[in-house]
Amino acid sequence: MSETLLPRAAATPIVIVGHVDHGKSTLIGRLLHDTDSLPEGRVAQIIESSRKRGLQVEWSFLLDSLQIERDQGVTVDSTRIPFHLGTRQFVIVDAPGHRQFLRNMITGAADAEAAVLVIDAAEGAQEQTRRHAMLLRLIGIRHVIVLMNKVDLLDYDAERIAACERATGALLDKLGITAALFVPASAREGDNIAARSERMAWYTGPTLTEALDAVPAPSSRADLPLRLPVQDVYRFDNRRYVVGRIERGRVRVGDPLVIGSHGTVARVAAIESWHTAPQISAVAGQSVALVLEPDVIPDRGDLLHPPGDAPVRAARIRTRLFWLRQEPLRVGESLRLRLSTAEHAVTVVSIDSVVKLDDLTEHPSDHVPPEGFAEITLAASEAILFDPFLPGTTDGRGVLVDRHQRIVGGAPLIGPAQIAEGARAIHPTGSTLSPWDRAQARGHRGAVFWLTGLSGSGKSTLARGAETALFAEGIDVAVLDGDTLRAGLCADLGFSDADRRENIRRAASVARIMAETGQVVIVALISPLAADRAMAREIVGEGFEDVFVDTSLDQCEARDPKGLYAAARAGRITGFTGIDAPYEPPANPDLRLATGAEATGETIARLVRHITGAVVLADAARRRS
Ligand code: ADX
Repeated sequence: MSETLLPRAAATPIVIVGHVDHGKSTLIGRLLHDTDSLPEGRVAQIIESSRKRGLQVEWSFLLDSLQIERDQGVTVDSTRIPFHLGTRQFVIVDAPGHRQFLRNMITGAADAEAAVLVIDAAEGAQEQTRRHAMLLRLIGIRHVIVLMNKVDLLDYDAERIAACERATGALLDKLGITAALFVPASAREGDNIAARSERMAWYTGPTLTEALDAVPAPSSRADLPLRLPVQDVYRFDNRRYVVGRIERGRVRVGDPLVIGSHGTVARVAAIESWHTAPQISAVAGQSVALVLEPDVIPDRGDLLHPPGDAPVRAARIRTRLFWLRQEPLRVGESLRLRLSTAEHAVTVVSIDSVVKLDDLTEHPSDHVPPEGFAEITLAASEAILFDPFLPGTTDGRGVLVDRHQRIVGGAPLIGPAQIAEGARAIHPTGSTLSPWDRAQARGHRGAVFWLTGLSGSGKSTLARGAETALFAEGIDVAVLDGDTLRAGLCADLGFSDADRRENIRRAASVARIMAETGQVVIVALISPLAADRAMAREIVGEGFEDVFVDTSLDQCEARDPKGLYAAARAGRITGFTGIDAPYEPPANPDLRLATGAEATGETIARLVRHITGAVVLADAARRRS
């Protein structure tokens, strides 16, 4: 096989998607075989191993046995499987594993010109089919070929195949995707993949390979207005070079360029490329080093554009979203928006609609579930320069990352968001210090230990005792105590369910801020309702643990340190937790402290051990011991 000899730049990237079991791997195997794109000896291997298992030839084994080429240039997680049709080169962009595949799709690693959507013609579209179709729409793949696979199971029956085509067409219609073609095929049997099937004489359309051959070659981006995202600025031999890859358009020596973020205009004095002599012009796709006059200094992430053709500038942006994180996304969450070479701190100010996957209708919702599709509004603390998302291009192709730089969502930017009347026009900022930097400096992570239990159960005593002990161990620790908060921040709140909920919301919000700055926070609130504690966990996010101070009502009442139980029994306090207001003990706390049986000092020591075990970094722990 000539895989290493193929000029990769010329290959048309395609992506193959489909519900698990609908035959994607078989199709890839079949495609490689029938187009003669397989390495010598591989076919014999497959036939041999299939026979050993007493099976028909399993084309999908090919995928496992293929020495998969890793494309270091894009991302090590991306797999590129080359094949050719005559002289035309293609590459199937794939990734090992479902999540990796989705991640590649949304980050553009898959940058496919065309997609083949594989559907089991007998089963029809399934949930994953809908998800993949949504994804194709989201990332804007314009050329979609639907492969109605396994038609052998329908006895090649024209009627039943037409029914599958109608149903799938209607589904794609809802998404605004016009399929370029529906090909009835059997990847296993080889019908209509590379060779015309004799068993479906009624079908006169192209085979899959003919359809792929008709996919237009990647269009040139050179004729659009210039966009040059700044990757870096170097100083060399007393000259400053602004370095980046031209995303679209072209640049010539003498051209005036606007430095997007501050609007200054400079002229291109020279264009240099690595390993070539200075040039007088460069086009989309090339990496260049520009010398500007006057010598203005853009930052990394800035965008250079021609004077008359500026991108959109907005601090509130409506975006589509594909959400990849395991936990749902909610309003108020701060994330980072990666856009080409730029990274901006953004906050989700509204979730405008969420797609229901079973019928692809859009609904209001307060959260976006994992692998969910939505439209949301992001706010940044400063204006962001961008071109709205344009299918088939890199324009406006945002990616959301969390504070650990993990990719959590794909976010093609739709355009500026209007500030609706009465909207809360807020633009929160996020820290540029990473939790990792802070933890390194202190030797421990920030975290929240949420103590819940009845009044008089000992929460405050344990919290304060642990605070002192942790401080002595060099841990940056603080206590947020119910009674104390109620003397200040929460002085306006009483003990109704709504007020308690608000009390908990405030405490959790403050705890989160403190934990984000690297502190260990011990919260001591009755927090009687499971739902409210779940809310606290959600507000805090990572690093939240609940600790149940498990002292029975009898013990609390017997101790009655503040005389409140007596007052409640006498009817002088109403709605008192445990007496005439509920307490729901946590079913599965991260730590349970039963206070009855041991000395308080021992319980505190247990809490302290638990906390240090959870927050102290391994290196720091070694140094301590
Ligand atoms: S929570 O329910 O909102 O979590 P929080 O921990 O802040 O309660 O406050 C509880 C403290 O308020 C108790 O320890 C007690 O000192 C005091 N308190 C006064 N009235 C009540 C009441 N009706 N129920 C519970 N605690 C009360």
